[in-house]
Amino acid sequence: MGRLFVLGFVVVLAASSLAATVNKNFNTDFAVTWSPDHVNTLLGGSALQLRLDNSSGSGFASKGQFLFGKISMDMKLVPGDSAGTVTAYYLTSGQTPNRDELDFEFLGNVSGEPYILQTNIYSNGVGAREQRIFLWFDPTTSFHSYSVLWNQHQIVFLVDEIPIRVFRNNEAKGVAFPSKQSMGAFSSIWNGDQWATRGGVVKIDWSKAPFVASYRNFAVDACESGKVEACSAMASSAWWNEERYRSLNRNQRHRLKWVQKNYMVYDYCIDTSRYPTPPAECKDAF
Ligand SMILES: *[C@@H]1O[C@H](CO)[C@@H](O)[C@H](O)[C@H]1NC(C)=O
Ligand SMILES: *[C@@H]1O[C@H](CO)[C@@H](O)[C@H](O)[C@H]1NC(C)=O
Repeated sequence: MGRLFVLGFVVVLAASSLAATVNKNFNTDFAVTWSPDHVNTLLGGSALQLRLDNSSGSGFASKGQFLFGKISMDMKLVPGDSAGTVTAYYLTSGQTPNRDELDFEFLGNVSGEPYILQTNIYSNGVGAREQRIFLWFDPTTSFHSYSVLWNQHQIVFLVDEIPIRVFRNNEAKGVAFPSKQSMGAFSSIWNGDQWATRGGVVKIDWSKAPFVASYRNFAVDACESGKVEACSAMASSAWWNEERYRSLNRNQRHRLKWVQKNYMVYDYCIDTSRYPTPPAECKDAF
């Protein structure tokens, strides 16, 4: 009995050293991936800014790799005339043919017109699952949180804790589900004016540069390990595998429907010119 207790205690300790909410530091826990002179950290590394101007965009990436849990970033997007700019925040296993990836892409607009938030999901290299929504607030005036809850059962995209998208584990229907590769967090700002704003009609007005996106509170409560076995080993004790995180609750379903009804502007699931037969995961009901 005593020995079992001690063993259990050790397992819990081992698990908690891999998972506890940690607010990451942009100086020490991230690396600049593109154009260091367009990346500024502020407040001792608790905040960061990316800049796009006519000479370059910029980007950064976490040093850590994550597999399951909750991963969250607060962002404030380019204010004013941001038409043609794309600010991407995503988790990816890497640029490989079988990559897993969860994307938030913010498509800028001219002053006073709404941003679009495009999300996409790659599982085992298969993507092309775009959805687009307007937001119910102006994402350029203050920080809002953009998060992913990820376990073996579902992946939930959250904006200020409101679910905007769910990708359920449909491996039983032959749909690959991201669960075998850890992912790092990445962000970049770049010129997307070939397609981003009104389908590419509106170009970047470089006289409005620099375009600055701001970040803070990168919070991780996840299995942080590049080793898939280590994360699988903690599955039974991890909070994100508890019953209540395996599907949306009533209130969350209600909120998701509210987003879909009032803010959704594009959904690959109902784009019959691309998918005459909707992909299998599209038949999920919430
Ligand atoms: C880029 O912007 C700077 C500052 O506004 C300006 O001086 C320069 O001429 C621009 N360069 C190009 C290639 O447009
Ligand atoms: C920009 O504003 C126009 C006009 O309101 C709108 O049609 C478009 O969806 C908005 N967003 C983007 C990214 O184009």
